Amino acid sequence: MNYFKLSIILGVVLSVYYYLDTYVLPTSYIFDPQVLHDIVKDSLAIAPAGNTTALFYEINSKLRDVYGDNINPYNTEDWMFNNAGNAMGSMFIQHASISEYLIFFGTAIGTEGHTGVHPARDYFYILKGEQWVHDLGNPEPIIYKPGDLHILERGFVQQYSMPTTCFALELAQGWIPGMLPFGFADTLFSTLDFGTFARTTYFTAKAMVESAIRGKF
Ligand SMILES: *[C@@H]1O[C@H](CO)[C@@H](O)[C@H](O)[C@H]1NC(C)=O
Repeated sequence: MNYFKLSIILGVVLSVYYYLDTYVLPTSYIFDPQVLHDIVKDSLAIAPAGNTTALFYEINSKLRDVYGDNINPYNTEDWMFNNAGNAMGSMFIQHASISEYLIFFGTAIGTEGHTGVHPARDYFYILKGEQWVHDLGNPEPIIYKPGDLHILERGFVQQYSMPTTCFALELAQGWIPGMLPFGFADTLFSTLDFGTFARTTYFTAKAMVESAIRGKF
């Protein structure tokens, strides 16, 4: 293999990637970040104050009204722990496909860590408690509260914390399989919690396959 052939192959691969990334990926998105924000605000206004479980049911049922079977029905059993970027919390997968995921994420007791560098744009709608964010160069914490939306652009990095109880609805749009190594690294190299690893793999794969069968990638 000479350098000429190598550069042709590289050029073709990069062009295909650029085409998929720019033209194909965004057409696979079904979730409208503004619709999600409205659902979160409406649900916060009607769910019984302080009952986060009731809020999860309310949001999930409104999501199913709009997005149908693309949203898994909520239940309290299918949560799983999540360790990533040195932060620990738990999540419930409402939707996962190649280009999007939609989850409840949070912790009852607080956590802190690295956001990860993701090939996806991330929308974080605070449902309960506070998320604190450290942006480079800004010595003050940016504080997000219930009803607020925190957007982390693709490729950007922050330090974040949930100083105590905090839960959020999280939407990611981009290359979801590309986010998985970050999602598994702390498990494989730190916690060695293979029960959680198996659970996460099972629920993620199940959601992705069911989405693909419905023609949603
Ligand atoms: C909170 O809401 C859930 C779901 O509607 C309900 O089962 C539970 O009893 C409520 N908890 C309290 C303390 O009201």
